[in-house]
Amino acid sequence: MRVLITGGAGYIGSHTCIALLEEGHEIVVFDNLSNSSLVSLERVRQITGKTFPVIVDDVTDRLALDSVFSEHKIDAVMHFAGKKAVGESCVEPLMYYQNNVAGTLILCEAMKAHEISTLIFSSSATVYGDPHSTPITEEFPLSTTNPYGQSKLMVENILRDLMAADNLSGKNFWQLGILRYFNPVGAHSSGLMGEDPQGIPNNLLPYIAQVAVGKLDKLSVFGGDYPTPDGRGIRDYIHVMDLAEGHVKALHFLSMNNVSDCQVWNLGTGNGYSVLEMVKAFEAASQCPVPYEITSRRSGDIAECWADPSKAKRELGWKAGRNLQVMMEDAWRWQSSNPKGYSS
Ligand code: NAD
Ligand code: UD1
Repeated sequence: MRVLITGGAGYIGSHTCIALLEEGHEIVVFDNLSNSSLVSLERVRQITGKTFPVIVDDVTDRLALDSVFSEHKIDAVMHFAGKKAVGESCVEPLMYYQNNVAGTLILCEAMKAHEISTLIFSSSATVYGDPHSTPITEEFPLSTTNPYGQSKLMVENILRDLMAADNLSGKNFWQLGILRYFNPVGAHSSGLMGEDPQGIPNNLLPYIAQVAVGKLDKLSVFGGDYPTPDGRGIRDYIHVMDLAEGHVKALHFLSMNNVSDCQVWNLGTGNGYSVLEMVKAFEAASQCPVPYEITSRRSGDIAECWADPSKAKRELGWKAGRNLQVMMEDAWRWQSSNPKGYSS
């Protein structure tokens, strides 16, 4: 298949480019480079030995999308393009709704006009809000606490409405998949690609990695009094290449099955690790100390969040195969050989 990858220069999108190319698919990347650089795509070419078109433009630009769909025969779209910083979304909600929600609406309109029906959307475990228990299945109630999460849930609801309208009209046009990611970490095993956050990282793993490499002094562990075995927050960390391979499986599923409902899959490992377990695992992989101090809880954080990934296993034949040690070793290989990310 020839797949349009919006946000394909970013962290998860670029790793998914590799997984798709390695499975023999063709790709066209569309990215406005607002949070990424073309170097990631040069690395994709270096690793896979394959070339592909790259369009630098914005998903809110309908004319740009029309021209891509006219010039390239696209079979499916993977939609990664979006903004993802929770704190920023609280300060700039309009920017988040414009980029994440309006961007997806415009993309869907363009797809419909060009009769492209298969879309895989990057959602997040954030749509489960503060879950009543763990592990989290796809049937758990949905709620959000910030504009970023709200933008993901709004898009999910829009996609469900598209399917419902198909069913009402009996047209069966759309083939839609929603992937709810848990906490993506790690990097490609080559050490050539990984996560390259701008400024001070918000997320745990890039922060730990930058402390280990000496760029930051110490980690603040947000909260030591959660009702968890060691009092620290617990998350389901998943290797970015496992996540990428989940997208390829979802694409296969949608191309083989004529679905009449929006398909939703959790992409997680089913294992939860605490912040301290993550620090210890990173120290073991890097042989570098990661100094930390316990500080107060971060507003909006929940105690624990980990997936029941059995639906993806059952329906997609997908299971995360890389363990915590591999996640840490790969993250460290990337960070230590590219201390300034792609601008190293
Ligand atoms: P990222 O910022 O590395 O990648 C997003 C890419 O989209 C970037 O290359 C950026 O330049 C591009 N982009 C943003 N707005 C755009 C627009 N309007 N038009 C064109 N390109 C645009 O983020 P990521 O971690 O790779 O995340 C990819 C997707 O997965 C996002 O939608 C994010 O919300 C979602 N997600 C990420 C995580 C995570 O922890 N990384 C977790 C759950 C969901
Ligand atoms: C965060 C977002 C979530 C988003 C996800 C991926 C919040 C509240 N949630 O999830 O919506 O989908 O990123 O972008 O921002 N931690 C520390 N010190 C740090 C950083 C994190 O102790 O410097 C802890 C957190 O309290 C948490 C764990 O590490 O327990 C993971 O944090 P993080 O990587 O930010 O991911 P989430 O909070 O799960």
